[in-house]
Amino acid sequence: MKKKIAVLFGGKSTEHEVSRVSAASVLRNIDISKYDLYPIGITKSGEWFEYTGNVDNIESGAWEKDEYFKSPEGQKVLFNKEVDVVFPVLHGLCGEDGTIQGLCRLIDIPCVGPNVMSSSVCMDKVYTKYVLEHFNINQADYVVVTASCYDDNKVEIIRTIEEKLGYDVFIKPSNSGSSVGISKAHCREELENGIKEALKFDRKVLVEKAINAREVEVAVLGNDKPKAGVPGEIVPAKEFYDYEAKYENAASKLLIPANLNGEQLENIKELAIRVYTALDCAGMARVDFLVDKTTSEIYLNEVNTIPGFTKISMYPKMWEAAGKSYKQLLDDLIELAIERNNN
Ligand SMILES: Nc1ncnc2c1ncn2[C@@H]1O[C@H](COP(=O)(O)OP(=O)(O)O)[C@@H](O)[C@H]1O
Ligand SMILES: [Mg+2]
Repeated sequence: MKKKIAVLFGGKSTEHEVSRVSAASVLRNIDISKYDLYPIGITKSGEWFEYTGNVDNIESGAWEKDEYFKSPEGQKVLFNKEVDVVFPVLHGLCGEDGTIQGLCRLIDIPCVGPNVMSSSVCMDKVYTKYVLEHFNINQADYVVVTASCYDDNKVEIIRTIEEKLGYDVFIKPSNSGSSVGISKAHCREELENGIKEALKFDRKVLVEKAINAREVEVAVLGNDKPKAGVPGEIVPAKEFYDYEAKYENAASKLLIPANLNGEQLENIKELAIRVYTALDCAGMARVDFLVDKTTSEIYLNEVNTIPGFTKISMYPKMWEAAGKSYKQLLDDLIELAIERNNN
């Protein structure tokens, strides 16, 4: 019998558009001789619809106006247990952060990717730091700024950041993705503006020492015995990999394998698996590192539990380089979700 797979796309986060492109790619490439598909779109305002129309409309966003193929039964598909596995192709808040994972757990349907705890810790850059400190994983020095403290002690907080980190620093909303709300500050004025900007997206902000680094990413797949694909490297077209450089600037380059020697490639794969295991990940995650351009010191940057999933995205590409096709990768993720739900 064919397995029934709900493919969730869109969502309430700032990465809604990216999610639609990832989901369209999953829907176009998944093996339909094995699976019946139930695409479910979530609008930016959080409404759920089942959408049975053309996949191109998912990619473009036109599905929302396609009344003929859109039914408001989106949530019922899950609650009535019409499906065997949920594949949340949702990036960011209310998708990658443990919320959908919790919903699936409550109604007892296997869900692709890590569980509630792991998803929410990986979504929150500050908590990722706290947990990985316990495991002695090297990370850039940082200061956490919360909205309430900042209002009361702005001068003191700025002084602490300057003393502890100096310039340049990166300023990030703790819960963010696709570089939204992230900036790089080279001086106090930029730092103050950056904190103000990041606080628009989250009441908790991470200020981090900027590393003069190459960006190396590792695709990890598996439950109890995770494996790593061929590490890749990102060469942003700009000073850093911001939203525009990620999605709109064709001059940003992806290199697979990353420009490291054989030993370094093996070391970073091993480290990625250590990080994955420390965070209790399951299914998949893309583990991103910064490698200092002069010293080659490796810093963990962040862990994405639902990484970009278009056919040209790093995660599937790094598996392709390791000999696993996009189709096979989707099969594996579905099997891993079922396996984890069963024990
Ligand atoms: N400490 C840092 N040093 C140097 N570059 C950084 C640092 N932190 C972030 N960056 C740059 O900013 C980009 C986005 O930051 P990241 O933490 O990956 O957030 P997101 O979740 O939005 O991808 C990175 O891809 C990198 O180019
Ligand atoms: Mg990133």
